[in-house]
Amino acid sequence: MDEQAGVPRHIAIVMDGNGRWASKRFLPRIAGHRQGVEALKRMVSACGARGVAVLTVFAFSSENWNRPADEVSGLMGILASALGKEVVKMKQEGVRIRFVGAREALAPQIKTALDQAEATTAQCNTLTLNVCFNYGGRWDIAQAAARLSAEGLAITETALTGHLALAHSPDPDLLIRTGGEFRLSNFLLWQAAYSELYFSPLLWPDFDEAALDAAIQEYASRERRFGRTSDQIARDASVPNP
Ligand code: FPP
Repeated sequence: MDEQAGVPRHIAIVMDGNGRWASKRFLPRIAGHRQGVEALKRMVSACGARGVAVLTVFAFSSENWNRPADEVSGLMGILASALGKEVVKMKQEGVRIRFVGAREALAPQIKTALDQAEATTAQCNTLTLNVCFNYGGRWDIAQAAARLSAEGLAITETALTGHLALAHSPDPDLLIRTGGEFRLSNFLLWQAAYSELYFSPLLWPDFDEAALDAAIQEYASRERRFGRTSDQIARDASVPNP
């Protein structure tokens, strides 16, 4: 799909700040994650409406297992309940859900819920929602290299790219992190090589359509050079498309 003027084809988001959102209200952290699901639903609709083709979100990292056990089980419960409530609506909105990450480590009922959500929405083509769950950028690069090695193939950039868990999507054009932190936290380490980075001070549950539009506007004002010079970019732009 062609990029609509100034609209990124693929947006990736580190949805940070749920815990602080809850603490500010003297609520348990899990209440922040529940509110995070509401923000995610808003973003899915908003991205679809703006012509974004792919939205990739970081829902649970390989390192999140180190959180208190009640928060980990709470996040698993939130995922199961959100899927139970939202998959049919997502299908109606044309959203294809795909889970990206190490599935073997998940409880069987969670794995089944993920498989069912993917199967139910497999034919949808308005927006692809990649939910990174039990995902880490280093895990992904290592598993891709291990598969190449097992297949007896040479490790080249192209081959590795094709074996990553997100191989079905183009690289993200715009990577947003909410919550006022300035780091990638092991998210899309390979794919973000040329992504435009945007950091928002808003806590994820407060991130709304206006905040998304501000990020897209900032993205549209950037010059993406992919290693080339500004002069080269200007020269290419002055050549009319055939
Ligand atoms: C980071 O905020 C957020 C997470 C680790 C979980 C993100 C999950 C959601 C937005 C809910 C959607 C999830 C599913 C399962 C579909 P944090 O807890 O690190 O916040 P803090 O930095 O304020 O403590």
